[in-house]
Amino acid sequence: MRRSVEVRILLNSTIEPGCDIHESVKIGDYVVIKTGTRIGANTLINDLSHIGGVSFSLSRGKDAWRVKKHSGGVIIGKNVTINNSVTIHRGFSGDTIVGDGTAINASTIVGHDVHVGRRCQINSHVFLSGHVKVGDDVVIEPGVVVQHRVKIGDKAHVGIGSLVMKDVASGVTVMGRPAVTQFEFRQTRKKQRELGIIGA
Ligand SMILES: CC(C)(COP(=O)(O)OP(=O)(O)OC[C@H]1O[C@@H](n2cnc3c(N)ncnc32)[C@H](O)[C@@H]1OP(=O)(O)O)[C@@H](O)C(=O)NCCC(=O)NCCS
Repeated sequence: MRRSVEVRILLNSTIEPGCDIHESVKIGDYVVIKTGTRIGANTLINDLSHIGGVSFSLSRGKDAWRVKKHSGGVIIGKNVTINNSVTIHRGFSGDTIVGDGTAINASTIVGHDVHVGRRCQINSHVFLSGHVKVGDDVVIEPGVVVQHRVKIGDKAHVGIGSLVMKDVASGVTVMGRPAVTQFEFRQTRKKQRELGIIGA
């Protein structure tokens, strides 16, 4: 790891002091990387992404909501692709982690204390709530919302637009709102067809 002074900075990007960013990291335009962020070799942080800011963990003050103190940072591994406009919040109690070789597509939000494993594919407009744990080799399709503290096992596949409210076992495909296994989803569709609730 090298200190952030070694980083290639393109148009109007900001890297705060106290980041450890490998010299090979590529950073696009209008990126913000906040103090306490570590980024490994050959990772790409594309335009407009915001890494290491505080999350929406709030406590009630006398007259207003206050953002709680965050003591963790963000650790992004090597060979990671972070596409445009991705937000990764810093950890509230530990670090937020993105594993080696993972790719995260545009406009996704990775919440505080989330751990994403290695070689995952997290598509666009996904929301991973606080403390969510995603295993290795997981595919999350676009528009998925994962509830706070849910765990998604290795090699799981989460279908497009799903709302994941419960843990997902390794190797299983889930889909729907709320998300159920592909088998249950198909069974329900079959029943609905038989009852004439949906068309053939
Ligand atoms: C995981 C996934 C591939 C499973 O899809 P699948 O193999 O078609 O699943 P099934 O065969 O079990 O589909 C059963 C039915 O549910 C529908 N369906 C599939 N995924 C669904 C979802 N995520 N939400 C609601 N309905 C869904 C299918 O259209 C099918 O409808 P039908 O019974 O009227 O034919 C799918 O949910 C998915 O995410 N596809 C999106 C892939 C994509 O476009 N990625 C974008 C990359 S940029």
